[in-house]
Amino acid sequence: MKNILIDCDPGHDDALAIMVAFANPEKFNILGITTVGGNQTLAKVTKNAQNILRFLKADLPLAAGQAGPLVKPLKTAPEAHGESGMDGPYFDGEDYPLCEQNGVGFLYQKIIEAEGKVTLVAIGPLTNIALLIKNYPQVMPAIEKIALMGGGISHGNQTPLAEFNIFVDPDAAEIVFQSGLPIVMAGLDVTEQAEITLTEINRLKNRGKVSNLAFELLSFYNQSGRQFGFIHSPIHDLCTIAYLMAPDIFKGEYADIHVITDNSPARGLTYGDFRRMAPEPKHTLVLKEVDRAAFVKLLMDALAKLDKQVTR
Ligand code: RIB
Ligand code: CA
Repeated sequence: MKNILIDCDPGHDDALAIMVAFANPEKFNILGITTVGGNQTLAKVTKNAQNILRFLKADLPLAAGQAGPLVKPLKTAPEAHGESGMDGPYFDGEDYPLCEQNGVGFLYQKIIEAEGKVTLVAIGPLTNIALLIKNYPQVMPAIEKIALMGGGISHGNQTPLAEFNIFVDPDAAEIVFQSGLPIVMAGLDVTEQAEITLTEINRLKNRGKVSNLAFELLSFYNQSGRQFGFIHSPIHDLCTIAYLMAPDIFKGEYADIHVITDNSPARGLTYGDFRRMAPEPKHTLVLKEVDRAAFVKLLMDALAKLDKQVTR
């Protein structure tokens, strides 16, 4: 069982990553969840995280982190995730408790309190993670690895060259990639293979309470993806959790990854030296392939488990 902390900006795919981790307590000891401004404002993504955790009847500590990037103003993605940041489902009921502590201090505290090392699952802009590394370097030895969704070697999505999470805060991303910590990078090269089809989405309708929530999330997300040329829906963030559960369904290669942080059209681009003679160290495992069917089965199985667990 892995100790994990999830840093996120829910986000349809963030929500599914949280649900799959929560469905597998024998694999994951979720020490806590932090939010970061990204898909939508910090207030909106935090509200979305509260809605997901309340829906799951979870009892996990939640803290809000940084509202925006280290240097530039926040760029949100309402075109992809809607005005709420997680359009589609309706959530009723009271709020879910939010820790007073800022998310960065919360991450520090959870890591030093943990029994054993902690894996960070970073599925939004890397602002909180960069500040954790800079403000609390003493936690570095206690971090097992960082599994992050971000970047892309062959292409971007926010721009032709930059993926959204990295584009929002490239300065934070460079700090993280150059921290010396072991990183698993689920960039667009692999996450755009990790897609669910509309036929598979429709199988979730009315299958159970949690499966139906996933159906509502993915139905909106699938429709929204059409404007970007997608027929099926890449569940980007879930690749991090899927890798931690089943690394063998992925293929990748190690490299030393850097990020363009200037104001050129390449801002947010992630690049690495993949030549045979590329020098060490190569801290980042860049995922390049995934067994799509195995990936989707992992989601379907997790939702089926949650349908039995969350019935009202
Ligand atoms: O580019 C995809 C990433 O941006 C995902 O993390 C998604 O949730 C958005 O944050
Ligand atoms: Ca995300």
